Amino acid sequence: MMISKKMEEALNQQIEFEGYASFLYLSMATWCDSQGLKGCYDFLKRQSDEERMHMLKIFEYLADVDGFALTPGIKEPPRQFESVQAVFKDVYAHEQKVTQSINKLITLANKENDYATQTFLQWYVNEQREEEALMRTVLDRIRLIGDGPQSLYFIDKEMDALNKAAVASEAAGGEA
Ligand code: FEO
Repeated sequence: MMISKKMEEALNQQIEFEGYASFLYLSMATWCDSQGLKGCYDFLKRQSDEERMHMLKIFEYLADVDGFALTPGIKEPPRQFESVQAVFKDVYAHEQKVTQSINKLITLANKENDYATQTFLQWYVNEQREEEALMRTVLDRIRLIGDGPQSLYFIDKEMDALNKAAVASEAAGGEA
């Protein structure tokens, strides 16, 4: 089968979106490292790798359906962040945008009667549900820790634990 031009273009935009998320989370990871937040660094670095994997999955799909994946020019993400709390709020907001973007792709695939792409995108629907749930957990924990004198220490410990849980779940064959 051959994919329509419209669908191909939309998937190429998603490639760029996932690529940007990968770079954004990498930049956030580096900033956290510069603040001594090693747990946050590990968590965000893994999220960045995940986004790269999301991007590459679309490359592979387009190759399968006789489309052409475009390697995107990625705009530079911010280098500085206001606080670690602001970083994770931004990650959650970004994930919500990605979910909307996946939903739009599915609407287009439906319009185009493109059943293969609809099926392909189901993986992303599940992934987004999991990622949004994980980020809500992160924000809940940050809120519970509050902003007492050692809050950064406890937030970092918590992120380390959440990261290790995600790594273990991946190793067990589940999705993080
Ligand atoms: Fe690929 Fe986290 O969206």
